[in-house]
Amino acid sequence: MRQILVTSALPYANGHIHIGHLVEYLQTDIWVRFQKLRGHRCIYICADDTHGTAIMIRAQQEGRSEEALIAEMREAHVGDFTGFGIAFDHYGSTNSEANRAVCHEIWAALRAADMVVERAVEQLYDVEKETFLADRFVRGTCPKCGAKNQPGDNCGACGATYSPSDLVDPVSTLSGTRPEVRSASHLFVQIEKLHGFLDEWTQSGTLPPESANYLKGYFLHEPLRDWDISRPGPYFGFEIPDSPGNYWYVWFDAPIGYIGATREWCDLTGESFDAWWRSASTEIHHFIGKDIQYFHTLFWPAMLKTAGFTLPTRVHIHGFLTVDGAKMSKSTGTFVRASKYLEHLDPSYLRYYYASKLNARVEDIDLNLEEFVARVNADLVGKVVNLASRSAKFVEATGLSARYPDDGGLFAAFAAEGAAIAAAYEAGDFHKAMRAIVELADRANPYVEANAPWELRKDPAKADQLQDVCTVALNLFRQLAIYLSPVLPDLAEKAGALLNDPIVSWEQAATPLTGTPVAKFQHMLQRVDPAKVQAMIEESREQAPESIPAAATPVDSAAALQADPIAAEISIDDFAKVDLRVARVIAADEVPEARKLIRLTLSLGGEDRRQVFAGIKAAYEPADLVGRLVVMVANLAPRQMKFGLSEGMVIAAGPGGEDIFLLSPDDGAVPGQRVK
Ligand code: MSP
Ligand code: ZN
Repeated sequence: MRQILVTSALPYANGHIHIGHLVEYLQTDIWVRFQKLRGHRCIYICADDTHGTAIMIRAQQEGRSEEALIAEMREAHVGDFTGFGIAFDHYGSTNSEANRAVCHEIWAALRAADMVVERAVEQLYDVEKETFLADRFVRGTCPKCGAKNQPGDNCGACGATYSPSDLVDPVSTLSGTRPEVRSASHLFVQIEKLHGFLDEWTQSGTLPPESANYLKGYFLHEPLRDWDISRPGPYFGFEIPDSPGNYWYVWFDAPIGYIGATREWCDLTGESFDAWWRSASTEIHHFIGKDIQYFHTLFWPAMLKTAGFTLPTRVHIHGFLTVDGAKMSKSTGTFVRASKYLEHLDPSYLRYYYASKLNARVEDIDLNLEEFVARVNADLVGKVVNLASRSAKFVEATGLSARYPDDGGLFAAFAAEGAAIAAAYEAGDFHKAMRAIVELADRANPYVEANAPWELRKDPAKADQLQDVCTVALNLFRQLAIYLSPVLPDLAEKAGALLNDPIVSWEQAATPLTGTPVAKFQHMLQRVDPAKVQAMIEESREQAPESIPAAATPVDSAAALQADPIAAEISIDDFAKVDLRVARVIAADEVPEARKLIRLTLSLGGEDRRQVFAGIKAAYEPADLVGRLVVMVANLAPRQMKFGLSEGMVIAAGPGGEDIFLLSPDDGAVPGQRVK
């Protein structure tokens, strides 16, 4: 028996669980359920990731404590996970005393190993709010092209990158005041001291090959940079014991949360902590997305190694979810919250669909909504559940035959397939496992059709034959339900109830069930109704953006004006110099080299076309822009940019980032008309 500790990444407490997250939590849950079914000692540990600036600022904006905010989010997360059948052995929080204790322990080990150094870091400081400002809380004029109201890290107009202290006229978005440059001392962990260890550990089969190669090619061929793990207060997190006023950066205490949550579980259950985290024979498996590899494959093993904790056996890394081939998007309704899904659809559908798509490679997976409906209906309802629904009712009165009948070798063949299916699960190749199971279903159904129990039951002389045929069909169904049970625990439970023999072990698929009573057949799984999928998408489209409820009060806030005060007075002639025109977007494309820009092709009517680069990628999907009317500055001097000539500017409101709102004229306006 193996002893296995499994984790998923700890979801941020500042957002709701959506169908992208579920790729990870369902994948992990399936793997854990598989290990348990195989009889291994396996626990699934997770927690909310609660610390950091984003939570602090949001709590402040909503006028409540961080603790109140994270408690509410935790309840929502746990509800979503439970709804999808994701069964943690423990769900903790990084903001716990257990986690603080482990942080202290690891910190002491890093100090003892002489891996911590202190260095001054220059950062902008908001004097009014008494806080250092993360890049995204500073805006100002681009030092390169002079574009106003640009973010602290790079310019949306010209694409230049710089540090926030380079901005001309910087403004804190928290207070609207001008921040000053202050120097603060930060603590750094010198992971370069473990270069040799990391080189070996990352290249020893612990990671998917593409990730191991990536680390080797991009990071490990040169000295590893020191990791800045402290932030000056105020900061929502744990204060560093030997550096008062400084706090551990959220990414320091987040992975430690895996251990902190395990410790909490041990305290609750009386389990030995050392047996899990200080044991050479325990396996540790982390499931994470490709966006957080660096933290889990360099920093994390370095910390564990230094503090003498069990090292991860494997880090399972998955890609990102796309929906119908595109990034999830609020405007098209494909940014679907877990709770919204559950209002409309059975979680089994998504569990099966993701399983049928997942393999062990670091690839993005696509939720194609049409295929989702078709595959679930064809495979699960049409092939698996159908076996039971066409046979169970004929043996309700008699139960299964006392001896397992001759089935031409089907049961034995299905039992023999178990090893290959198990190997696919173990390797994380759920796609392969699902395909093998559906192939078995494709062999079982012809048996039922050939023996047509619905015909046999018309002839009382054939009662024994009818019982035998149904005994075979239900046993084949039960084997499939066992193999599917990590993915479809609900179906397994119903199958167990139907045949009066709960499914608890993979081994049960090796021995036929005979002589047991058969319960009245209950619906096991409804067909997916495409109208419900559509309704879910429609309602997701209407849903207000994440987080802050829009306009909590009818009085408009003064923050926008404070952040960007009204400019010096101009004359009407000054204004007349600016030629604003209505234009139609006729093409919108991503600019691969610029992460904030969209290339717009605008029509001013007739043949007149303009190319404009707009820093609106965080707020708009290119496809949603095509066809709409915008307002542009038509007489701005053209500017040569890295990616091409920009021939004007589109007008938008808002501070930037995701909060950009393009202006459009009321109905009736046409391209080329002047705005004055
Ligand atoms: N809090 C960090 C993880 C700390 S682990 C010590 C975090 N949280 S998250 O909420 O942003 O993401 C949680 C997990 O969900 C990550 O592994 C992330 O890769 C995964 N996903 C989030 N969005 C996703 C998709 N759209 N598609 C697939 N997985 C995604 O990162
Ligand atoms: Zn610029």
